[in-house]
Amino acid sequence: MKTYVVGNWKLNFTVGESSIYLHKLMKALPVHRGIEVVVAPSTIALQPLSLQVDRHKIKLAAQNGFYRDYGAFTGETSYSQLRGIVDYAIIGHSERRYVFSEDDKFVQKKVAAAIRNRITPILCIGETESERAFGETADAIRDQLVSGLMQVGDDDLDKVVIAYEPVWAISSVKSAKLATPDEVAEVVRLIRGTLAEIYGEKVAKDMPVLFGGSVNSSNAGGYLTVPGVNGLLAGGASLILGEFIDIIEAAKRVRV
Ligand code: PGA
Repeated sequence: MKTYVVGNWKLNFTVGESSIYLHKLMKALPVHRGIEVVVAPSTIALQPLSLQVDRHKIKLAAQNGFYRDYGAFTGETSYSQLRGIVDYAIIGHSERRYVFSEDDKFVQKKVAAAIRNRITPILCIGETESERAFGETADAIRDQLVSGLMQVGDDDLDKVVIAYEPVWAISSVKSAKLATPDEVAEVVRLIRGTLAEIYGEKVAKDMPVLFGGSVNSSNAGGYLTVPGVNGLLAGGASLILGEFIDIIEAAKRVRV
């Protein structure tokens, strides 16, 4: 299986800055078939960057999209419009869930719409700080996972990537804490166990599961060696080109 390194730029960088970053990243990276490098610029930068990107080296992801293909939905960008421009879409990110009130049902429709439009969803799931404190981590993870995949047909399960992002570990959250590799391992086991119960061992083994939450070049290697983790989703650290390249280097080292 490939190792994924995904950079979520969130609401940062103008189109020009995004283009310069991409140019420098492409120059710095050799083609490496074992590592899937993905960057998620803001929506406005996706189309120009899609003309610039060397897809052998880097893939583009959308940070957001809408599940209906067209219609009276002022201000939205549909996955059908993103089709051909991006290979991936981040869906269910905690900032969408908690800042923009997207619920499980909404996330589920977006996952289905991305797949319908040949875009691989990176389905983010993760418990909040209070869910963890009240012992509800397993329930929260199971609910988000099961619901997120509800409209995905059996033939399309190999087109889904899961990202486990404990909300309390995301760097933009006040008083963010680092997840320990043991904490990550436990939830990743739970994710794969749930997948096995519902879809069988093969799906559970083959579905990529990434980790995200204050990932940087110093802790990347540690998270990448957690059993069952197939890659990383970095936010803040991905904004610094050198950091992002170092995370990719860490992924290469772990693979050999
Ligand atoms: P962070 O963000 O790496 O800055 O914690 C991760 C994310 O929100 O996807």
